[in-house]
Amino acid sequence: MTKKALITGIEASIPDYVLTNSELETLVDTSDQWIRERTGIVERHILKQDGLGISELGADAVRKLLASTGTSVDEVEMLICHTISPDMAFPSTANIISDKVGIKNAWGYDIGSGCSGFLFSLATVDAFIKAGKKKIILVCGERLSGITDYTDRNTCPLFGDAAVAMLIEPSEEFGLVDYDNHVDGIGRHYLYQKAGGSMYPATAETVARKEHFIYQDGKTVFKYAVSNMADVSVAMMEKHNLTADDVAYLIPHQANLRIIAATGHRMGLDDSKILIDIEKYGNTGGTSIPLALWDFKDKLKKGDNLILSAFGSGFAWGAVYYKWGI
Ligand code: COA
Repeated sequence: MTKKALITGIEASIPDYVLTNSELETLVDTSDQWIRERTGIVERHILKQDGLGISELGADAVRKLLASTGTSVDEVEMLICHTISPDMAFPSTANIISDKVGIKNAWGYDIGSGCSGFLFSLATVDAFIKAGKKKIILVCGERLSGITDYTDRNTCPLFGDAAVAMLIEPSEEFGLVDYDNHVDGIGRHYLYQKAGGSMYPATAETVARKEHFIYQDGKTVFKYAVSNMADVSVAMMEKHNLTADDVAYLIPHQANLRIIAATGHRMGLDDSKILIDIEKYGNTGGTSIPLALWDFKDKLKKGDNLILSAFGSGFAWGAVYYKWGI
């Protein structure tokens, strides 16, 4: 039988500092009520300390994962990290995390695909599992606070920081059943970090223009997100003849409560089947789905049919049909 990528262990590292909506009221012209009503976010955790990158949280999550799964560093064959807020442009954050936790016999690299990043990374890991790898660690982590402009009310309430590490092993019965991932480059005009890459290298002028921060045309992204996330999730159910009763839970990317609700309702799901923790963490980019898997892991039962669904920068979006197997 074909092997599937199965998450056999999952751990998270969440920074202690809680940035509340009331603190944001002191930074920009906004209100707790506006943020709750328009996004669903109440607070988010951010990594405050200078000089700490996302590898700090990533390494912490990997150490917890090795301990909770009883895995030795020598058994790990690959470590892949998904992030759009790497410690540095290079070397890869995967490399830095491996060094910090003492993984020496593995190779790996970073993937960067914004909010759909977990779905794209899981598909990548699945290909390695099908090719014969037995123990891969996937880390999804973002320190989005480092590229957020806390004078811009359009973006600063949205984002939070966290890292999640997963041990992924082959299984015949459970794990990734199917994925349907998409990209459309039209999105590059609506959600981006303009400067700091090869097109606009960092200069005093790019910094003065705040071009190293996240820019988002929220209204346009919202429109694309709400239809594409619902379409791809419904299509996945239809492809596998899954009714709303067959789906145990939708675990959506946590960007906006209204997008999540619209997706769940198009799938015909009761609210109780839509797993939401956006109020606690905000939008943690490609980390938000694994963060929710970790947050709700006590609710999930072996064999549960999950639909994981995301939309983000690129545009890039997709849905995964996953059978929970821990
Ligand atoms: N507090 C108070 N008012 C705010 C505000 C804030 N934090 N941010 C924006 N506003 C204002 C705007 O200036 C605008 O005022 P105007 O009408 O006088 O110009 C008004 O609120 C409405 O702004 P709008 O952008 O239309 O709000 P919205 O309902 O679209 O919500 C987002 C904004 C960002 C929450 C929403 O567009 C969104 O979630 N977009 C998609 C995010 C997403 O899915 N991203 C993909 C992955 S990252």
